[in-house]
Amino acid sequence: MFPEIDRVLIDEARIAARVRDMGRQIAADLQRDVERTGQDQVTLIPILTGAIVFVADLIRHMPMKLRLGVVAVSSYPGRTMQSKGAAIRGELPQDLAGKHILIVDDILDSGRTLALVRRLVEEQRPASVRIAVLLRKEVERAEEVDCEYVGFDIPDAFVVGYGLDYDGHYRNYPQIAVLKGPSA
Ligand code: IMP
Ligand code: MG
Repeated sequence: MFPEIDRVLIDEARIAARVRDMGRQIAADLQRDVERTGQDQVTLIPILTGAIVFVADLIRHMPMKLRLGVVAVSSYPGRTMQSKGAAIRGELPQDLAGKHILIVDDILDSGRTLALVRRLVEEQRPASVRIAVLLRKEVERAEEVDCEYVGFDIPDAFVVGYGLDYDGHYRNYPQIAVLKGPSA
């Protein structure tokens, strides 16, 4: 069914446990911000398409009022394992001023995507901005990005599954896996 998968790096049970802990921690931190500032508007910004599976699981461990405002960024168009540089597709939500923002992505690699989104979010003067990523690759980054919440640090291999794709495929694979071929 998934002929190009070489090996599983992080299985479903480990992902589920970590995402549950992250959701609870993030919700507790955001709730504290809400109480401290009296500002109760919280918006999560998942970066499409890779973050959809992660954010769907994460928010179900966040028992609080929140909104979702998606943004689409493409950096790996077509059959490639090399980032081509981040570009926003469409528009970022424009109502972020004064709100507590959590940017959510599947993976921090070169840092270009999250650096770009964080900069555009901060231009709107939100009350706070944090970043949550499921995975952080141990690589030299083109742009340094501080992520407040990291699920797993992983070695520099091209991974798929749990939202992450190769040429649009494997987002539905339920675990984080390494593909066969040059990166395996
Ligand atoms: P960055 O801009 O290089 O940090 O890359 C971030 C984006 O590239 C992520 O949102 C992913 O969609 C994609 N990406 C980076 N590394 C991988 C990978 O190993 N597998 C699949 N997608 C990746
Ligand atoms: Mg992505």
